[in-house]
Amino acid sequence: MIKAEGITKVIRKKTLVKDATFSVEDGSIAGIVGRNGSGKTVLLKIICGFMLPTEGAVEVNGERVGKDVDFPSSLGAIIETPGFLPWQTAEQCLMDFAKLGRKAGRTEVLRALELVGLEPGSKKHVGNYSLGMRQRLAIAQAVMEDPDVLVLDEPMNGLDIQGVEDVRKILLQMKQAGKTILITSHNREDIAVLCDQVYEMDAGSFLQN
Ligand SMILES: Nc1ncnc2c1ncn2[C@@H]1O[C@H](COP(=O)(O)OP(=O)(O)OP(=O)(O)O)[C@@H](O)[C@H]1O
Ligand SMILES: [Mg+2]
Repeated sequence: MIKAEGITKVIRKKTLVKDATFSVEDGSIAGIVGRNGSGKTVLLKIICGFMLPTEGAVEVNGERVGKDVDFPSSLGAIIETPGFLPWQTAEQCLMDFAKLGRKAGRTEVLRALELVGLEPGSKKHVGNYSLGMRQRLAIAQAVMEDPDVLVLDEPMNGLDIQGVEDVRKILLQMKQAGKTILITSHNREDIAVLCDQVYEMDAGSFLQN
């Protein structure tokens, strides 16, 4: 479960996130919708422990982020599309990350690629991937270590209708496997059907819904 209480982030006297309180139940999908610059990415960075809040607290599966742990221990995240090396194949990219995390090996990497609909043995360099293929690769990276919690920043961004549908299916499959998922989007329609709960953010604040 993800629990955020009274999260406020101030940078150089500018309030980027203001008193955000929300939770994501175990095994459910929650979404945060908001226009460009509303503070979605900043909030996700705080949840993942990449940024510390000025005020408030985040708990992921009972671990207080920034206190008990620097990063939640069972979390897969995409915050802004990761920089994959363009001359590598998808498998090579994921294997590099797998070596860092030391939780996934080649079997898990190939399984993750298959899950997101990328051809596991493909020799194609990711520099030649379309945006949709890169999004799929990013999702594969987030799921390859089989984390309990997934935090995905705009996983539908730039995808065509089929791509959005495919990502929905992947995330529903994850939910069925018992994962807790938090996603953002600037387009309510893209995620509304998928989410058990949708929060709306505007200028750093959560709107009542
Ligand atoms: N490290 C930082 N230092 C200062 N300001 C920042 C920093 N990161 C983000 N901001 C500002 O915080 C505000 C919210 O940014 P954020 O990236 O969270 O928006 P967003 O909702 O994710 O937008 P988008 O839909 O474009 O991704 C913006 O005004 C941005 O300029
Ligand atoms: Mg963003």
